[in-house]
Amino acid sequence: MSITEEIQELKKEKNAVILAHYYVNPEIQEIADYIGDSYYLSKVAVDLKEQTIVFCGVSFMGESAKILNPDKTVLMPDMTADCAMAHMADAKTIQEMREKYEDLAVVCYINSTAELKRHSDVCVTSANAVKIVKALPNENIFFIPDRNLAHFVAEQVPTKNFVYNEGYCPVHEQIQVKEILKEKEFHPQAEILTHPECPQAVREISDYIGSTSGIIAYAGKSECMEFIICTENGVRFELEKQNPQKKFYFTKTEPVCQDMKKITLEKLRNVLKNGENEIQVTEELREESVRPLGRMLELAR
Ligand code: 13P
Ligand code: SF4
Repeated sequence: MSITEEIQELKKEKNAVILAHYYVNPEIQEIADYIGDSYYLSKVAVDLKEQTIVFCGVSFMGESAKILNPDKTVLMPDMTADCAMAHMADAKTIQEMREKYEDLAVVCYINSTAELKRHSDVCVTSANAVKIVKALPNENIFFIPDRNLAHFVAEQVPTKNFVYNEGYCPVHEQIQVKEILKEKEFHPQAEILTHPECPQAVREISDYIGSTSGIIAYAGKSECMEFIICTENGVRFELEKQNPQKKFYFTKTEPVCQDMKKITLEKLRNVLKNGENEIQVTEELREESVRPLGRMLELAR
């Protein structure tokens, strides 16, 4: 039996479902039951009939799935797959901002630990951040942890006062304008599609800025046949699958999230087989962190 057949068998036997983010390796995306960006996956996670969720992504994703589904078993193929940005804020600063600003909403990017979510008023993903911030009654917004997404949202919602936090995604932060312009020289007709986790200088030269699924949807609808993609290289798989006639280029230094790439078929098979790597969240932490996640799902609807 091949490893993919083994995974299919184990999935049935264990009443399990596989969720995967677009940044994981193609063979994982191929075998997943649901593939998507962070927002899609958090929505999907609340309506599943299977008892076990195997989350092929990084820890904040599995943790969010567990918080939203306390009665389900959530397994991670690799417990060390983490998002560096998820830790780039702290409760002390949140408290200081709450004391300093009246009428403040702490808006927490879903790429964050449950510990940060519990101190926040609402979660957002890159797909719904603008909509949610617009819907909030508060005048002041402390946006954690990502400064780049925060600035992008602030540009779209100029009526609110933003307070920034110095977190960033090391993968998107490293995408270089000069490398993008080099690709543009080779492919002058190409449109530049960018994730809002990229720095301002990259966003400024882009034709479209949006979440991973936003980028995929834009590339599908655009009349253009060539694109320079400024996000993690795992999206290439879905872009090429949906648009076999179009061409997708990345910068010479390809953006790769090493943590997302830790997920392998072997690790996926192993957790299905032995039930290891189960996400645990204490009831106290769950009760406090489910509130901003639930508010996100409600406001984004
Ligand atoms: P989205 O899934 O919201 O596009 O975010 C990208 C990301 O960095 C996930 O870790
Ligand atoms: Fe975190 Fe960046 Fe990796 Fe996404 S790509 S999981 S934001 S480190």
